[in-house]
Amino acid sequence: MKISLSSGKIITGSPDNSILESLKNEGVFLTSSCGSKGTCGKCKIVIRSGEINARSAIKLTHEELKKNYALACQSFPLGDISIEIPKESPLTLEGRIATGRSKDLQALLHSAGVKIEPLTERIVLHLPTPSLNDNISDLERLKRELVSKGLGCLRVPFRFLTGLAEKVRKNKWEITLSVIYSEDCNEITNIFPGDKKSKQYGIAIDIGTTTLVV
Ligand code: FES
Repeated sequence: MKISLSSGKIITGSPDNSILESLKNEGVFLTSSCGSKGTCGKCKIVIRSGEINARSAIKLTHEELKKNYALACQSFPLGDISIEIPKESPLTLEGRIATGRSKDLQALLHSAGVKIEPLTERIVLHLPTPSLNDNISDLERLKRELVSKGLGCLRVPFRFLTGLAEKVRKNKWEITLSVIYSEDCNEITNIFPGDKKSKQYGIAIDIGTTTLVV
Protein backbone atom coordinates (compact mmCIF):
# COMPACT_ATOMS: atom_id res chain seq x y z
CA MET A 1 0.00 0.00 0.00
CA LYS A 2 1.05 3.56 -0.67
CA ILE A 3 1.56 6.53 1.59
CA SER A 4 1.57 9.76 -0.41
CA LEU A 5 3.19 12.78 1.17
CA SER A 6 2.09 16.31 0.40
CA SER A 7 5.62 16.93 -0.93
CA GLY A 8 4.80 14.55 -3.78
CA LYS A 9 6.94 11.72 -2.42
CA ILE A 10 5.28 8.30 -2.31
CA ILE A 11 6.49 5.64 0.09
CA THR A 12 5.51 2.07 0.83
CA GLY A 13 3.32 1.45 3.86
CA SER A 14 2.08 -1.64 5.64
CA PRO A 15 -0.69 -2.32 8.18
CA ASP A 16 1.99 -3.89 10.39
CA ASN A 17 4.28 -0.86 10.37
CA SER A 18 3.44 2.43 11.98
CA ILE A 19 3.50 5.38 9.62
CA LEU A 20 6.46 6.69 11.62
CA GLU A 21 8.35 3.47 10.91
CA SER A 22 7.50 3.52 7.20
CA LEU A 23 8.62 7.13 6.93
CA LYS A 24 11.87 6.31 8.73
CA ASN A 25 12.53 3.39 6.38
CA GLU A 26 12.38 5.85 3.50
CA GLY A 27 14.63 8.40 5.16
CA VAL A 28 11.88 10.73 6.38
CA PHE A 29 12.54 11.28 10.08
CA LEU A 30 10.01 12.75 12.47
CA THR A 31 10.75 13.88 15.99
CA SER A 32 9.96 10.98 18.32
CA SER A 33 11.27 11.84 21.76
CA CYS A 34 9.31 9.10 23.55
CA GLY A 35 10.63 6.29 21.36
CA SER A 36 7.24 5.64 19.69
CA LYS A 37 5.31 5.16 22.93
CA GLY A 38 2.68 7.69 21.96
CA THR A 39 3.43 9.87 24.97
CA CYS A 40 5.44 12.81 23.64
CA GLY A 41 3.05 13.95 20.92
CA LYS A 42 5.93 15.07 18.69
CA CYS A 43 5.33 12.86 15.65
CA LYS A 44 2.18 14.58 14.44
CA ILE A 45 0.91 14.11 10.92
CA VAL A 46 -2.31 15.09 9.19
CA ILE A 47 -4.32 12.41 7.38
CA ARG A 48 -5.52 13.96 4.12
CA SER A 49 -7.26 10.87 2.76
CA GLY A 50 -7.56 7.16 3.48
CA GLU A 51 -8.21 5.06 6.57
CA ILE A 52 -5.84 4.38 9.43
CA ASN A 53 -5.90 2.34 12.60
CA ALA A 54 -5.01 4.86 15.31
CA ARG A 55 -4.01 3.03 18.49
CA SER A 56 -3.67 6.15 20.58
CA ALA A 57 -4.24 9.85 20.21
CA ILE A 58 -4.03 10.94 23.82
CA LYS A 59 -1.51 13.67 23.07
CA LEU A 60 -3.74 15.33 20.50
CA THR A 61 -6.14 18.14 21.29
CA HIS A 62 -9.81 18.20 20.22
CA GLU A 63 -8.90 20.87 17.70
CA GLU A 64 -6.18 18.70 16.21
CA LEU A 65 -8.44 15.65 16.07
CA LYS A 66 -11.06 17.70 14.21
CA LYS A 67 -8.38 18.64 11.69
CA ASN A 68 -7.47 14.95 11.18
CA TYR A 69 -4.19 15.06 13.05
CA ALA A 70 -2.73 11.69 14.10
CA LEU A 71 0.37 10.45 15.87
CA ALA A 72 2.55 8.75 13.25
CA CYS A 73 3.98 6.27 15.77
CA GLN A 74 0.47 5.13 16.75
CA SER A 75 -1.10 5.09 13.28
CA PHE A 76 -1.19 2.14 10.90
CA PRO A 77 -2.52 2.47 7.35
CA LEU A 78 -5.48 0.33 6.35
CA GLY A 79 -5.09 1.11 2.65
CA ASP A 80 -3.56 3.80 0.46
CA ILE A 81 -3.42 7.06 2.34
CA SER A 82 -2.12 10.54 1.82
CA ILE A 83 -0.62 12.56 4.61
CA GLU A 84 0.84 15.93 5.36
CA ILE A 85 3.73 16.45 7.74
CA PRO A 86 3.22 19.66 9.76
CA LYS A 87 6.28 21.87 9.86
CA GLU A 88 6.89 21.22 13.56
CA SER A 89 7.21 17.44 13.16
CA PRO A 90 10.32 16.71 11.05
CA LEU A 91 13.41 15.72 13.00
CA THR A 92 15.73 17.07 10.37
CA LEU A 93 15.88 20.60 9.10
CA GLU A 94 17.81 21.09 5.90
CA GLY A 95 19.50 17.74 6.37
CA ARG A 96 20.55 18.36 9.97
CA ILE A 97 19.03 16.82 13.08
CA ALA A 98 16.99 19.45 14.83
CA THR A 99 18.19 18.57 18.31
CA GLY A 100 16.52 21.65 19.75
CA ARG A 101 13.19 19.88 19.24
CA SER A 102 13.87 17.51 22.07
CA LYS A 103 14.58 18.57 25.62
CA ASP A 104 16.39 15.32 26.17
CA LEU A 105 19.12 14.65 23.63
CA GLN A 106 19.72 11.12 24.85
CA ALA A 107 16.03 10.23 24.51
CA LEU A 108 16.04 11.73 21.05
CA LEU A 109 19.04 9.68 19.95
CA HIS A 110 17.57 6.53 21.50
CA SER A 111 14.31 7.15 19.68
CA ALA A 112 16.25 7.30 16.41
CA GLY A 113 17.71 3.88 17.24
CA VAL A 114 21.16 5.20 18.15
CA LYS A 115 23.10 3.14 20.69
CA ILE A 116 25.28 5.44 22.76
CA GLU A 117 28.65 3.97 23.60
CA PRO A 118 30.95 6.90 24.36
CA LEU A 119 34.68 6.43 23.95
CA THR A 120 35.30 8.59 26.96
CA GLU A 121 34.01 8.50 30.50
CA ARG A 122 34.53 10.25 33.79
CA ILE A 123 35.46 8.23 36.83
CA VAL A 124 35.24 9.54 40.38
CA LEU A 125 37.81 8.16 42.82
CA HIS A 126 38.07 8.54 46.58
CA LEU A 127 41.71 7.99 47.38
CA PRO A 128 42.64 6.81 50.88
CA THR A 129 44.11 9.63 52.94
CA PRO A 130 47.89 9.19 53.48
CA SER A 131 49.05 8.18 56.95
CA LEU A 132 52.27 7.11 58.60
CA ASN A 133 51.42 3.52 57.68
CA ASP A 134 50.30 4.37 54.16
CA ASN A 135 52.80 6.88 52.87
CA ILE A 136 53.26 6.08 49.20
CA SER A 137 53.45 8.88 46.58
CA ASP A 138 50.31 10.47 45.15
CA LEU A 139 50.89 8.80 41.80
CA GLU A 140 51.31 5.37 43.41
CA ARG A 141 48.16 6.04 45.44
CA LEU A 142 46.25 6.87 42.27
CA LYS A 143 47.57 3.81 40.44
CA ARG A 144 46.75 1.54 43.38
CA GLU A 145 43.16 2.80 43.37
CA LEU A 146 42.87 2.28 39.64
CA VAL A 147 44.14 -1.30 39.94
CA SER A 148 41.60 -1.97 42.70
CA LYS A 149 38.84 -0.73 40.32
CA GLY A 150 40.07 -3.04 37.54
CA LEU A 151 41.55 -0.13 35.58
CA GLY A 152 45.19 -1.09 35.91
CA CYS A 153 46.07 -0.38 32.32
CA LEU A 154 45.57 3.36 32.38
CA ARG A 155 48.26 5.72 31.12
CA VAL A 156 48.79 8.86 33.18
CA PRO A 157 50.44 11.41 30.85
CA PHE A 158 53.43 13.21 32.34
CA ARG A 159 51.73 16.62 32.05
CA PHE A 160 49.30 15.71 34.84
CA LEU A 161 51.98 14.89 37.36
CA THR A 162 52.89 18.50 38.17
CA GLY A 163 49.38 19.41 39.32
CA LEU A 164 48.45 16.06 40.83
CA ALA A 165 49.47 16.84 44.42
CA GLU A 166 47.29 19.95 44.52
CA LYS A 167 44.29 18.35 42.80
CA VAL A 168 44.05 15.31 45.04
CA ARG A 169 44.20 17.46 48.19
CA LYS A 170 41.82 20.18 47.05
CA ASN A 171 38.66 18.17 47.76
CA LYS A 172 39.71 15.75 50.47
CA TRP A 173 41.23 13.17 48.13
CA GLU A 174 38.23 13.00 45.87
CA ILE A 175 39.12 13.37 42.19
CA THR A 176 37.51 12.88 38.81
CA LEU A 177 39.42 11.41 35.89
CA SER A 178 38.44 11.83 32.26
CA VAL A 179 39.37 8.61 30.55
CA ILE A 180 39.53 7.76 26.89
CA TYR A 181 39.21 4.09 26.11
CA SER A 182 41.32 2.37 23.51
CA GLU A 183 42.03 -1.22 22.59
CA ASP A 184 45.51 -1.46 24.12
CA CYS A 185 45.70 0.82 27.16
CA ASN A 186 43.24 3.48 28.29
CA GLU A 187 44.48 7.02 28.86
CA ILE A 188 43.68 9.80 31.29
CA THR A 189 42.87 13.00 29.39
CA ASN A 190 42.14 15.21 32.37
CA ILE A 191 42.07 15.27 36.16
CA PHE A 192 39.76 17.45 38.26
CA PRO A 193 39.45 17.90 42.00
CA GLY A 194 36.11 16.72 43.43
CA ASP A 195 33.18 15.00 41.75
CA LYS A 196 32.76 16.36 38.19
CA LYS A 197 31.18 13.23 36.74
CA SER A 198 28.03 14.96 35.53
CA LYS A 199 29.89 17.60 33.53
CA GLN A 200 31.25 15.74 30.56
CA TYR A 201 30.48 17.30 27.21
CA GLY A 202 31.69 16.25 23.83
CA ILE A 203 31.50 17.17 20.20
CA ALA A 204 31.79 14.82 17.27
CA ILE A 205 32.88 16.02 13.84
CA ASP A 206 32.72 13.79 10.82
CA ILE A 207 34.95 15.20 8.08
CA GLY A 208 33.74 13.47 4.94
CA THR A 209 34.84 13.95 1.34
CA THR A 210 31.84 16.10 0.45
CA THR A 211 30.12 16.84 3.76
CA LEU A 212 31.11 18.05 7.17
CA VAL A 213 28.74 16.89 9.89
CA VAL A 214 28.94 18.19 13.47
S1 FES B 1 6.97 9.34 18.98
FE1 FES B 1 6.18 10.20 20.77
S2 FES B 1 4.09 10.32 20.36
FE2 FES B 1 4.88 9.44 18.58
